[in-house]
Amino acid sequence: ESKQPFVMVLFGATGDLAKRKLFPALYALYRDGLVHEHFAIVGVGRSEMGQAEFRKMVQDSIAKHSRLSIAEGQAWENFIGRVDYVALDVNNSETYALLRQMVEAREKTMDDTSNRLFYLSLAPELFGTVATNLRLGGLTQNQGWKRLIIEKPFGKDLESARALNEVISQSFREEEVYRIDHYLGKEMVQNIEMLRFTNMLFEPVWNNRYIDNVQITASETLGVEDRASYYEHSGALRDMVQNHMLQMLMMVCMEPPSKFETEAIRDEKVKVLRSLRRYAEDEISQYVVRGQYTTGEMKGQQVLGYRDEANVAPDSDTETFVAAKLYVNNFRWSGVPFFIRTGKRMPKKATEIVVQFKEVPLLNNFTHAGAVGPNLLVIRIHPMEGMTLYLNAKKPGTDDKVVPIAMDFCNNCDIEGGSPEAYERLIHDAVHGDSTFFTRWDEVSLAWKFVDPIRRAWDKGLVPLHDYQAGTWGPKAVNFLLSEDDVNWWYVR
Ligand code: BG6
Repeated sequence: ESKQPFVMVLFGATGDLAKRKLFPALYALYRDGLVHEHFAIVGVGRSEMGQAEFRKMVQDSIAKHSRLSIAEGQAWENFIGRVDYVALDVNNSETYALLRQMVEAREKTMDDTSNRLFYLSLAPELFGTVATNLRLGGLTQNQGWKRLIIEKPFGKDLESARALNEVISQSFREEEVYRIDHYLGKEMVQNIEMLRFTNMLFEPVWNNRYIDNVQITASETLGVEDRASYYEHSGALRDMVQNHMLQMLMMVCMEPPSKFETEAIRDEKVKVLRSLRRYAEDEISQYVVRGQYTTGEMKGQQVLGYRDEANVAPDSDTETFVAAKLYVNNFRWSGVPFFIRTGKRMPKKATEIVVQFKEVPLLNNFTHAGAVGPNLLVIRIHPMEGMTLYLNAKKPGTDDKVVPIAMDFCNNCDIEGGSPEAYERLIHDAVHGDSTFFTRWDEVSLAWKFVDPIRRAWDKGLVPLHDYQAGTWGPKAVNFLLSEDDVNWWYVR
């Protein structure tokens, strides 16, 4: 789709996400010339705030968080001049008249075009209400296109997700709904399909005949910070596994799409979730481990245990760590274990995927010669972006010694200011009507179908909640998941 004028209505405009990610992303898109010159942003918030005050807030947030510095002069004036603010009680559809007037006033100055992008960066309880009130307030009956971007979480289980979807579908068609999973906006997550489907070197060996196991890690150093009121009800399973971890799994496992087109790609991803082995409640303890951090040392500083954090119940059972062994039961992947792990207060912030290949048949004949290891392909998603391929080669100057060698590719080293942020890519795609890297409803529902029995088994107390010290790689109890398959976690750089 070519560039078109649009108005973006941003709910939650004074919130943390808007400041840290959304305004910087919008500014970068504008600076890079990736959106039509006729656009406007209408921020919606709870508190009364004058336009000047709001613009100052936007400016400060961009100055602080953008990968690009603010250009003085006309370019900046032009950008900030397109930013408005309105205070609304989002629960009351009558107050939306004011919003509608502002949007229409902007549209008059933009050749009377009317394309609307509604972005809900709000508490999830409000998603349904706002979608409905946009319709009741007359904002969704416009001439041009309309699109709804929704932050996560989309429900807290299958049932609530269905109910939410039902409500939204009364105001927006499925093609108009853009459910964000910001991991899908990360450069190296998007790169997985390119690497797989454009290289003869990978695709023929990308299956259970050559791959021994796959490990997907998303570790964080931060704790719960000030988000306990949300996190206490979500935990790592709903916060990271239901969405980000399964999305990475889908990208690794999907079949080549028949066309490089949105629905063809999403169809292949959904098939992965259909093949994902679902565990019954009484099997969960064999395949899924949960943990919670206790006090520990990080970078020489003692940090609080989860239960001592602000707004966390002193006897909270919320998990801050999950590891699991997954199987994708289809022709390509049958028998290959996928190990996933994610947690807060771990030693390193790192998101990466390690594909471990099987050993060569003659490996034993070489063992006298030194450190022969399996080939590994490490896809680095964050903070480093790139990949490393570990191979074996002859040690120079010897005739029978083998050494591991690493071939490195850096994806973002040559890009000034770093590669585009996930939110830049995703907002850009939504503005241009490309929903490839957004979550379709059937993906959401299948992901909940996998997650719900795990949650139920935990709620029934069928599985222990293990402790791990802040600053460590999670509970020791995780190791049994891997040892059955004679696998170790790779801790690569
Ligand atoms: C969010 C979770 O979706 O992803 C957070 O709600 C988590 O708890 C974050 O910290 C991690 O994202 P990233 O991009 O920093 O890996």
